[in-house]
Amino acid sequence: MTMHKPVMLREVLEYLDPKPNQNFIDCTFGGGGHATAILERIGQAGLLLAIDADSQILKNVKCQMSNVKCVNDNFRSLKSIYANNFPYPVSGILLDLGLSSMELDDETRGFSFLKDGPLDMRFDKAKQELTAGEVLNKYTLDNLVKIFTEYGEVPIGRARQVAKAVVETRRRRRMETNFDFVAVILQAFYPGAFARGKISVTTRDFYHHRKKITHPATQFFQALRVEVNGELASLKLVLPQAMDILETGGRLAVIAFHSLEDRIVKKFFKESVHGDSPTLRLLTKKPVAPTLEEIADNPRSRSAKLRVAEKRHENTRPPRKRERCGQAWLGNPDAVSFLSLSRSRLPAP
Ligand SMILES: C[S@@+](CC[C@H](N)C(=O)[O-])C[C@H]1O[C@@H](n2cnc3c(N)ncnc32)[C@H](O)[C@@H]1O
Repeated sequence: MTMHKPVMLREVLEYLDPKPNQNFIDCTFGGGGHATAILERIGQAGLLLAIDADSQILKNVKCQMSNVKCVNDNFRSLKSIYANNFPYPVSGILLDLGLSSMELDDETRGFSFLKDGPLDMRFDKAKQELTAGEVLNKYTLDNLVKIFTEYGEVPIGRARQVAKAVVETRRRRRMETNFDFVAVILQAFYPGAFARGKISVTTRDFYHHRKKITHPATQFFQALRVEVNGELASLKLVLPQAMDILETGGRLAVIAFHSLEDRIVKKFFKESVHGDSPTLRLLTKKPVAPTLEEIADNPRSRSAKLRVAEKRHENTRPPRKRERCGQAWLGNPDAVSFLSLSRSRLPAP
């Protein structure tokens, strides 16, 4: 089985900066790559709460370590997972979104359009009911178009073309496997070449005007996975919970793999940095991308974007320009109190 290579490991360590005796939460333990490096830094006296929606987490040997607590659950319930399992202050939290190479390569999970398997795609088979097969076989045409456009960012015309082909196909037979869906997509986009056998469900490389393009199923599979696992909703839920849990000065690092995820993280960070009582300080003004060497070594990292923020000390908002120059009393009572506060701290003349 392929081992998962942790993405932007050096950068994650640099920003989270784990130190001996500190405690961390890895919300997406996966193969434990990031977690192992964090454990090396925090040492025996530091503690790690490791979470993953995939029950495989419980088989990882790291879960036997006395300073590691592994929990098989969805990070959307982070606060209750934390409250029930980890009564300690937390210096850093990591979210490395998406799926691991082990999940992608396991054809019984149905995540990959390059491998045939059941249309499943659930991170947690025990707790989740909705499968990719249910979505394709039961959703209305309009709902299919909606998830393909919203979660796969497929242009509306192409989304409608594939949604119609799905509805047409399932009138004749239930769609059972990944290759059933890949065949529908290829037939919709390349009817002639598919009928002549020039391309098939096992074709890996696709070209447009001799230029290599991404596999036509890529965005449709992303859309199904996001829908089946409620990925965007979970991300929106976990971010404020993570900030609540962190101790002051603690850091939250998020690695996103597509623009839908990254937009949610960017918006949350932006909203928490501005306003009258900002709760965060941004450590990455722009998202950090993997180096070219890392992309060459691990092509899976190519779309990754890392954003990191630090929980602020309370009442540390620097005074605004107007307040600094003493005009702030014009309609801003907060600023007046800031001014009197700073005056009262001045040494007596
Ligand atoms: C990219 S992998 C993490 C890899 C890990 N950082 C490493 O170095 O091995 C993402 C992991 O997050 C898990 N996951 C995705 N969404 C989740 C969620 N909402 N709650 C908990 N785990 C989730 C997946 O099952 C997968 O194992």
